[in-house]
Parts: sequence; C-alpha cells; structure tokens
Amino acid sequence: MSQFEFTSRSLADTDRLGQQIATVAQPGDVLALVGTLGAGKTRLVQAIATALGNSPEAVTSPTFVLVNEYTAGRLAVFHFDVYRLKDDDEFLELGAEEYFDRDGITLIEWGDRVEHLLPEWASVVTIELTDADERQVVVMGDLAARL
Ligand SMILES: Nc1ncnc2c1ncn2[C@@H]1O[C@H](COP(=O)(O)OP(=O)(O)O)[C@@H](O)[C@H]1O
Ligand SMILES: [Mg+2]
Repeated sequence: MSQFEFTSRSLADTDRLGQQIATVAQPGDVLALVGTLGAGKTRLVQAIATALGNSPEAVTSPTFVLVNEYTAGRLAVFHFDVYRLKDDDEFLELGAEEYFDRDGITLIEWGDRVEHLLPEWASVVTIELTDADERQVVVMGDLAARL
C-alpha cells in the first residue's frame, strides 16, 4: 500500500500539505482523518477546502451537525466529524454512502471509528502531535500514490 509522509512544523506547512492534497484530489476520494483532539484534523480540512477555492471561514468543525458541505470551490468537500456518532446506523442514516459516490471529496474526522463502513478505496490520513507546533502526517492508500 502506498504511503506518503509529511512533517508539518507550522500552520503554513499544513496549508502546503492541504494544497498538495487539493491538487491531486479527485471526485469520489474518501479520506479518513485520524488523530487525537487538537492533532489538526479540522485545520487540514480547512487547508484542503481553502486550496480548492472555499473561504477558510466556511470551514467549521461539524461536531453537532456531523456533516458540512463546502461547494464554492473546484471540487465539493463533504466534511464529516463522527466524534459524537452514537452508532453505525446514525452514520448510515446521514446518507454517508451516497456521499462517497457524489461529485466531490469526503473528509471524515475520527474516520477510524467508521473505518469498516468506508469504501475500499478510502485513504487514511494519520496526524500525530509531535510538538506544540509540529505534526507528523502519514497518508496511506489511493491518495498517497498521487502525492
Ligand atoms: N503544524 C500544525 N498544523 C496544524 N495545526 C497546528 C499546527 N501547529 C499548531 N496547530 C494548532 O493545533 C490545533 C489543531 O486543532 P484542530 O485542527 O481543531 O484539531 P482536531 O480537529 O484534530 O481536533 C489548532 O489550534 C492549530 O492552530
Ligand atoms: Mg476537529
């Protein structure tokens, strides 16, 4: 399986990673974002969505509504946060599976919690907090092969 590693030492670095991901993103991409609270999952979604042409203010953590859609850019972004998900059914009832086939990319914070419900082509982005401003990012799967 393809793997891509990236060390971010600043928000600007994370913006550059978001730009790189946005450049290779294709409709139907599904990315599970994995990492503890404060790792930078939302920040990376913001970087990707902004690079695609959305305003950074549009990107907020969808913790309570579970999914936000940003459609002002080159590719639509479907932004899930499943931290507060009660069970698998709740995810399926959101119509999650339909999002995977839609004309856009799906980014799922805490995606490891629903990994068994994601399509086989889903990629995994693991973000590890290594210092106050430093993050170690590992991308695995389909997307990694394009980075
Ligand atoms: N290199 C970095 N990349 C991303 N975020 C960083 C970095 N350094 C510090 N941060 C900070 O880490 C926090 C990440 O928060 P957030 O993206 O909401 O995390 P999560 O969604 O994983 O809980 C933000 O306050 C951000 O400013
Ligand atoms: Mg978040």
